Amino acid sequence: MKYSRITGTGSYLPPRIMTNHDLAQFVDTTDEWIVERTGIRQRHIVEHESACDLAEFAARRALEMAGREPNEVDLIVMGTSTPDLIFPSTACLLQGRLGITNGGAAFDVNAACSGFTYALSVADKFVRSGASQCALVVGAETMSKLMDWSDRGTCVLFGDGAGAMVLEPSDEPGIYSTHIHSEGSYEELLNVAAGVSRNREVLLEGKAFLRMKGNEVFRMAVTTLGRIVEETLEANNMTKADVDWLVPHQANIRIIQATAKKLDMPMERVVVTVGEQGNTSAASIPIALDTAVRDGRIQRGQTILLEAFGGGFTWGSALVRF
Ligand code: UT7
Repeated sequence: MKYSRITGTGSYLPPRIMTNHDLAQFVDTTDEWIVERTGIRQRHIVEHESACDLAEFAARRALEMAGREPNEVDLIVMGTSTPDLIFPSTACLLQGRLGITNGGAAFDVNAACSGFTYALSVADKFVRSGASQCALVVGAETMSKLMDWSDRGTCVLFGDGAGAMVLEPSDEPGIYSTHIHSEGSYEELLNVAAGVSRNREVLLEGKAFLRMKGNEVFRMAVTTLGRIVEETLEANNMTKADVDWLVPHQANIRIIQATAKKLDMPMERVVVTVGEQGNTSAASIPIALDTAVRDGRIQRGQTILLEAFGGGFTWGSALVRF
């Protein structure tokens, strides 16, 4: 049996930082409220950079770690819900930016905050089947562009950034399994209700804002993530004790703690970046993974569980031997 294996990781955060205190200058909130309810202290916000700009830095770092040249990449799958343009896809823009001319494929997947788990699931299947020899999986977001800066229920939560991963074929795992799901009847709880063929005038007015019923999303996220971690372990005949690291989507420290508790994992075994970065949507998992790989916490041979929940609703996971 063939597997795909992670041969490199990379990430990038735009340099500009917005603290909770900065936010409290113009929206009715406090550092105490945000820290207590979310664990977030600051987030990185783009100035002029696009999602593709952030993705390029992350991708080059991942390729460098993998020891691969850009032109060896025959597949780019990009998780984003804040694409540079309607088209070309941000993955195609990145392919052009990296100077890849080998005729491989590049496309985006939009699964909101679960975007990276979706992109990874797709790329894993291409690599396992032999259709790709070197895949770049990216999560890149400029969530700040979707914020209504007068809505304290959302604008304190999100940040910008990008993360990337190189996947290559291997006889050994690698990615043990990926799991993706969606339930399309929850549009009202979490959306950006403007686009091209619906509510285009909202987009043109510059009011394409993320709206969320935070409380209800929170409850769904906790129960759904509890279920998917069980599904993922069962599919591999593994138990909670087999997992060395939990690398969760970073929406809220309380959601992360609830999932860690379900897994009986002490927080020292959970990679947490939400305090410094907020929720970077599809970018949060690959950024967290890269952070813990580069600071030496995650070692080769260890077993890692990735999981995410987001708009759609969508949710996804992956069990990985690094
Ligand atoms: O990644 C995609 C998925 N997204 C998520 O997973 C996010 C899920 N939701 C959450 O993380 C939480 O629900 C929030 C952090 C968004 C909100 O926390 P909460 O504990 O659920 O608060 P709440 O919405 O129930 O609001 C409690 C109170 C309200 O005041 P009243 O009505 O009790 O007087 C809010 O108006 O807190 C108020 N509030 C704020 N106060 C200060 C809401 N936002 C703020 C704020 N600063 N930024």
